Amino acid sequence: MKKIVVSGIRPTGNLHLGNYFGALRNFIKMQEEYNCYFFIADYHSLTTHPHPEHLRQNVKQILATYIACGMDPEKVAIYAQSDLPETVELYLFLNMNAYLGELERCTSFKDKARQNPDNVNAGLLTYPTLMAADILIHKADFVPVGKDQEQHLEMTRVFAQRFNSLYGVEYFGFPQAFNFGENLVKIPGLDGSGKMGKSESGNNAIFLTDEDAVIRKKIMRATTDSGPVEMNQEKPEVIANLFQLVKVLCGEEVYKVYDEAYNNCTIRYGDLKKQLAEDTIKFVAPFRQRIAEILADDAYLEKVRREGAEKARQSAAKTVAEVRRIIGF
Ligand code: TRP
Repeated sequence: MKKIVVSGIRPTGNLHLGNYFGALRNFIKMQEEYNCYFFIADYHSLTTHPHPEHLRQNVKQILATYIACGMDPEKVAIYAQSDLPETVELYLFLNMNAYLGELERCTSFKDKARQNPDNVNAGLLTYPTLMAADILIHKADFVPVGKDQEQHLEMTRVFAQRFNSLYGVEYFGFPQAFNFGENLVKIPGLDGSGKMGKSESGNNAIFLTDEDAVIRKKIMRATTDSGPVEMNQEKPEVIANLFQLVKVLCGEEVYKVYDEAYNNCTIRYGDLKKQLAEDTIKFVAPFRQRIAEILADDAYLEKVRREGAEKARQSAAKTVAEVRRIIGF
């Protein structure tokens, strides 16, 4: 039997190269080996009250992007969380055994409450129980998550264990983090301020939907310094980021050429940027075209998401029925 993998994807709309080389590409590899359930966490996104039209658009955009990047709806169940309302019933049950203290101590809750003191709603407080419901409803073995989600996964195991001991059953298992290890390629932003997409300005990131001219402009405008002054000197952050992008998008060979030029102080940043821009365009353009094609086909998107939800429902309905019976309904 194939192991079960569940992951939720934030409906953030446009995805950038950092998203691609981070989670997205690895999710797509997992479809070959695991029984995967990938869903767009649109219920979760309601904690910030998105505009209905934005919500609709963002869900479609993410769905189209994942498919364009190679997620195969025949192999995985890809669906919108809101198309699987069974999750909400399990969420209610889990909330009965989730305690105020532990929910309040959750780091993501404390951060969000501090950032938005006017919107500390119950959905935010119980974000971890909804996430636990997403995961436990398919009895996942693995959850591919980044560091920021590990506490939520730990809480999922706590809720699973608590349910089991309350009812004297060994019903839920204990899903583990799936670590991509070195397959997680970190993509820096264009302004040398850290991860791509981290700063609010769209100029730090290259999106999979960016037009050629936009990509060229963003890269040519990327921050640099006045050039190396000593042989073999260490690269400052605003240069190291561009080199990392060259390594990923232009390849090791090209990287070596520019690295040598940097080390012997003959580098011309303009040349490096031109090369990076052209290779980035070559990489992004096919994705952009495919995303646009898929987005133009509403009937296809509807079909994918409906069939994904049907697949997900097979395991979700079974879990909810069993949980109801265990609880005494
Ligand atoms: N909380 C996750 C994030 O912010 C999204 C998410 C929701 C999720 N439900 C999940 C991830 C279940 C893994 C499993 O990225």
